[in-house]
Amino acid sequence: MSAPELDSLQSELLEAISRAADLGALEEVRIAALGKKGRVSELMQLLGAMPPEERRDFGQAVNTVKTAVADALEAKRLELASAATAAKLAHERADVTLPVREGPIAEGRIHPVSQVTDEITEIFADMGFSIAEGPDIETDFNNFTALNMPPEHPARQDHDTFYFAEGPDGTRALLRTHTSPVQIRTMLKQKPPLRIIAPGRVYRCDSDQTHTPMFHQVEGLVIDEETHLGHLKWVLQEFCKAFFEVPEVKMRFRASHFPFTEPSMEVDIGYAKIGDEIKIGEGDQWLEILGCGMVHPNVLRAVNLDPAKYQGFAFGLGIDRIAMLKYGMPDLRAFFSGDLRWLKHYGFAPLAIPTLAAGLSA
Ligand code: DAH
Repeated sequence: MSAPELDSLQSELLEAISRAADLGALEEVRIAALGKKGRVSELMQLLGAMPPEERRDFGQAVNTVKTAVADALEAKRLELASAATAAKLAHERADVTLPVREGPIAEGRIHPVSQVTDEITEIFADMGFSIAEGPDIETDFNNFTALNMPPEHPARQDHDTFYFAEGPDGTRALLRTHTSPVQIRTMLKQKPPLRIIAPGRVYRCDSDQTHTPMFHQVEGLVIDEETHLGHLKWVLQEFCKAFFEVPEVKMRFRASHFPFTEPSMEVDIGYAKIGDEIKIGEGDQWLEILGCGMVHPNVLRAVNLDPAKYQGFAFGLGIDRIAMLKYGMPDLRAFFSGDLRWLKHYGFAPLAIPTLAAGLSA
């Protein structure tokens, strides 16, 4: 190869190097020139076959090209690398003046029903009650028969029950219509003295502004050898004061009827509506919040307890209702409509765990 040919090869390669738009393209140029089968490397391989007097000059000339190309490659590589870094920095720049984005702990909300259930649990736990649980799908026996509502009992009609198809034994499972079957489960499993509450979901085929097909109750049950109505009243009064966080709550115990208690009562609490605000424990409006009474002897017999030895009291409280009352939420249906705006407004911060010591809703 002649000197002018070498010159033109060099300028061709330098031209290609200067045109390389990125590091990938530059690498291709490098391989084509200096790689094992590159054009400059091939010239070097010719040296061996040359007569010695030509070899020196040609070798020097090729080396000059090689050095020029290698230098140009390195210069271009540095240039492209720093351009790539600059582009990356421009693209990934963090604006440290932006406000910190709130994480899930700050943005998430606890549903008022969960929060109020925790509040109720906290209060009764402080009074020595433990938590019992039962399934949403119940047997007819636990939901009705053992609670002194045998088949054909008229009170069954009041419950708007969701039934499942009849099973092989001829009975129909159902969605529990109240938390009272947990009384039965507890008494069948544990020996008195018993002191439990059982919060959970219940179901009735009913829907309007104050009723949803699924809602929440908490059941209470105390069984011992000397339990009377005075204990029941005291427990409920203490509960209401603690829950509504007021020193006194006006309560009204009305005679009522439930098949599983005798005597039975319904309890209303007094409140006043001042503008949009609801004041608990004052005023002349009443809201029914629970049913209660002394456990019926037939219920004790159904779970093999001797009514001559044991008595007790029970109560069933509507969680959603007292949540509405305490936190001023007007429409029960909004509780279960999954509207995030509602939850943002009425929900609780995840770390606002209710404790008696810190104040339940503080
Ligand atoms: N289970 C009743 C209901 O859902 C509420 C109730 C009333 C529960 C009296 C009780 C009780 O434990 O003693 O309507």
